[in-house]
Amino acid sequence: MIKKNREFAWRINLHFLTSVLVFVLYSACVPVHQDESPIAKEYGFDDKYEPKIDSILELLTLEEKIHMIHGNGMFVSGGIEKLGIPDLTYTDGPTGIREELERHSWDPLNMDNDSVTFFPTGTALAATWNTDLSLRYGKAIGNEANARRKDILLGPGVNIIRTPVCGRNFEYFSEDPLLASDIAVGYIRGVQERDVAACVKHYALNNQEYQRWIIDVEVDERALREIYLPVYKSAAIDAGAYSFMGSYNKFRGDYVCENDYLLNRILKDEWGFKGIVVSDWGATHSTVKAAKNGLDIEMGGKSGQHFFALLADSVRAGLVSEQIIDDKIRRILRVMFNCKKMDSTRIQGQTNSPENIQVAYDVASESITLLKNTKGLLPLNSQEIKSIAAIGENAVNRYAKGGFTAGVKARYEVSLLEGLQKKVGDKTAIHYARGYKEEFVVVDTGGRWPYMYPDPDPDEALIREAVEVAKKSDVAIIFAGNTRNVETEVVDRETLKFPFGQDELIRAVSEVNTKVIVVVVAGAACDLRYADSLSSTIVYAWFNGSEAGNALADVLFGDVNPSGKLPFTIPVKLEDIGAHAMEAYPGKNFKVNYSEGILVGYRWFDTRNIEPKYCFGHGLSYTTFEYSNLETDKVNYLSDQDIILHLMVENTGNFPGKETVQIYVKPLESSVERAEKELKAFRKVALKAGEKQKVKMEIDIRDLAYYNVAGKQWVIERGPYKIMAGSSSRDIREVTVVNIK
Ligand code: BGC
Repeated sequence: MIKKNREFAWRINLHFLTSVLVFVLYSACVPVHQDESPIAKEYGFDDKYEPKIDSILELLTLEEKIHMIHGNGMFVSGGIEKLGIPDLTYTDGPTGIREELERHSWDPLNMDNDSVTFFPTGTALAATWNTDLSLRYGKAIGNEANARRKDILLGPGVNIIRTPVCGRNFEYFSEDPLLASDIAVGYIRGVQERDVAACVKHYALNNQEYQRWIIDVEVDERALREIYLPVYKSAAIDAGAYSFMGSYNKFRGDYVCENDYLLNRILKDEWGFKGIVVSDWGATHSTVKAAKNGLDIEMGGKSGQHFFALLADSVRAGLVSEQIIDDKIRRILRVMFNCKKMDSTRIQGQTNSPENIQVAYDVASESITLLKNTKGLLPLNSQEIKSIAAIGENAVNRYAKGGFTAGVKARYEVSLLEGLQKKVGDKTAIHYARGYKEEFVVVDTGGRWPYMYPDPDPDEALIREAVEVAKKSDVAIIFAGNTRNVETEVVDRETLKFPFGQDELIRAVSEVNTKVIVVVVAGAACDLRYADSLSSTIVYAWFNGSEAGNALADVLFGDVNPSGKLPFTIPVKLEDIGAHAMEAYPGKNFKVNYSEGILVGYRWFDTRNIEPKYCFGHGLSYTTFEYSNLETDKVNYLSDQDIILHLMVENTGNFPGKETVQIYVKPLESSVERAEKELKAFRKVALKAGEKQKVKMEIDIRDLAYYNVAGKQWVIERGPYKIMAGSSSRDIREVTVVNIK
């Protein structure tokens, strides 16, 4: 009795305290329930299959159900033989369809009909800032998956770029949640339009490769909700993604693949996700816990270790209810039916079609980012340039494969040198010199993956050779940067410096030729201090797919005006990055605490007043754009309204070009720490020379909310908000202020 009374009194107190808190919050701000938004109707699952799914479920034995929830080969999980439902097939992703492997190993089958289009990697796609292109990318890669009869494409990779050293950044999109979300939504919708399920990976907080198998991530709830989860939420809700991949790491003490909070509470309950959660390959660590906490399919080398006999026994012993298994089967069947797996009307895709190749080219050419062109060396004038020194292994390297990340068996890949040669024909002499050697110090770690340290030392003989060709050429292009062996799954880079002594190469070449263009091939930020101090011209060319060489040559010679913008910050030095400045990377004793909170990427640089080398959103053009007349449809808004913005953008130069207008917002009064600016809208427009356009953009005021941890809700604060229109995050051209009432 006493116990009950105490409990009652405690509840009353709690109730009272909560009411006070809610009252205080209400008087200053408006809570919004963003998590109630339904899955966008035109995307996501079609309900019409549900009765059929129910009737199939009734026919299945426990053993048949168990057969469906684990891999029975490297990239297949079970179907239902007696009903003629074939196995579910998977493929990597995310930049091209992986070659066929032996059923039970990673060894290729060496077939002669499984080569495909290699699409530009994630950061390249994001650097286009073009959501129409990400939709086309999704459709094209979906088409290729379909042609190869794959049901689930293991992509896109959407993890937020928290540190530039993360080995898989090149597969991901951005440090900014809005840019990452918008690019991901296009990709997913595109893939699924082709009757293939996208598998959004790696959910969640797999922001470093170092110790990814075990690292336990702690991040405060606000940063979780505002920075790390939005891209997944958009994938589930706005794009209606059919599947998610649970990552290797732990979150708050539990492996993600058995994490009730991430899988059940947030993904399935809050966001209403009705698709399947597949484990990353070998990321399942338990049977009962994983089964109950939201994992649907165990995949990977020893798959079946947890979700086969052990799970069947656990169900028989009453440790896991059969309803939990039924829910997993429902999800699998839902994906199968929505991909029209058993339906003759399923789209027949095509690999290497002209359309797909065009997409690879368009993405590559729009992604190339001109960081610096102070002497106006670019575009090159083919009439004037009689000789080019093409220096560096990256001119001849291919990037479809390498390192430990799933590679693509590309039907073809135009190297940067081939692209250049094709472009100039015999009008211009190209002198190639290797310049540096890709070499690694390999340390056997005892596991499946050795550690490979890129050799930092220059090769003096190769440098001398490069100097000789640079001396006799009108212009020297140095193809510097990383390779797929340097940026790779499983390991993080130890430094942002160019590997293989490339800085020394750049120095030596710039001593003998005043016209040096540095083309950086990389998927992530590099230390550009050296290149920047020695060269007037820097171009980021990414790992850019089958058409990389053609796209780069078109940009260098001005047939394409560059329009890429950085999807991440390039710091002066690694220690300037929030996670590193806070000593919150890579963690200690297998734990990492994201103590920089919401200040990830430019949010950190701008709020803490740190000068980056090249800021988020930066990218030049061969023309100039002027901004004027930033206007909003009103001055005062209610919290459920949209802000409609108009901005005049004029192409004031001589080239047609594309410009991405970026809208950043900052509340001028706030009860909590807010970043100096946050991207809230962007739009890419094409303008002919001299053309003017009134560009319209919208901001849903709910997107200005912050996540209130105590109240467990999104809150829009009343008061004035600064709206900034910029050509990059640090080139703000127009500013206005609105009020939220
Ligand atoms: C990677 C995944 C990939 C899977 C299958 C894992 O090592 O983390 O991204 O899809 O392997 O290749």
